[in-house]
Amino acid sequence: MSTLALQIDDIEIIDAKPGDIGAEIKGIDVNEIESGAPILETIRQLIYRDKLVVIRDQELTADSYVAFTRKLGRPQVYFQPQYHHPDHPEVFVSSNVPEVNGKRMGVSGTGRYWHTDCQFEKKPLSFTSIYPLVFPKSARETSYIDMSRVYQNLPDELRKMVDAPGAAFVHEGQMRYKVQETDVDRSLRELLDRINQEVPPVVHPAVIEHPVTGIKSLYASSGFTTKFVGLNYEDNQRFMQAIFDFSERPEHVHTHYWDEGDLIIWDNRYLNHKASAVKPGELSKSYRIGIYDDKPFYVGLEP
Ligand SMILES: [Fe+2]
Repeated sequence: MSTLALQIDDIEIIDAKPGDIGAEIKGIDVNEIESGAPILETIRQLIYRDKLVVIRDQELTADSYVAFTRKLGRPQVYFQPQYHHPDHPEVFVSSNVPEVNGKRMGVSGTGRYWHTDCQFEKKPLSFTSIYPLVFPKSARETSYIDMSRVYQNLPDELRKMVDAPGAAFVHEGQMRYKVQETDVDRSLRELLDRINQEVPPVVHPAVIEHPVTGIKSLYASSGFTTKFVGLNYEDNQRFMQAIFDFSERPEHVHTHYWDEGDLIIWDNRYLNHKASAVKPGELSKSYRIGIYDDKPFYVGLEP
């Protein structure tokens, strides 16, 4: 990687510390990167290797942010339009900031539970990028768990279960649906049925293999994963709790403390993440763009 970095003037790349995640890139303006520039491949390889990449000191508009992600991969248009930026459907807006005409843009308080983006879809999202615009005073962090490390460290009795041939988890997003104004007068049953129709529960292998690095990760999160296939109700509850309790131990958590201008990109194949809660009355706004690379989400799944 350092050879690649040396090809590009003024760019500083600081690798993740051994055993940790997160590379840092300084000295680039992503608005200036041209399609096909070598730095794009450098960024992709850093994401695969260090799992999380922070690009410092960026000044992005919704427009230029979308343009950059188009060069890196294929930006996602999230399936629920209430999250979309009005002019750029690729931009997912998490915000509680009143806009000029008094209308709120996007949805507030997203992702404050351990999850990996679009885990409840047949083809989950490869990368997630976030660019905060308004920082709440008390909470300037996002937390991550490297699920490849969790897999390596799993106690034997859990490891045996997830390594068994055909071991798989069920994932569903219905309980995380955020009720909207247009849902008034609908029963919870109707809402749940509609969500289940739009995104029915999916099954993915309990352990997924990264299509580029071959690294294996435990693919489960307390936010979206509900069942281990083949267990009865009681055994399932116990097993899932043991998996989540182990995964979410403090020693597995990496916290990113945001600085103004940070653009962060991570690989959802390895990392679970959680947004921090914002205190009542504090404003917060960020743009997110999901990016698909041209690889399958895991070995064995169609790209
Ligand atoms: Fe998320």
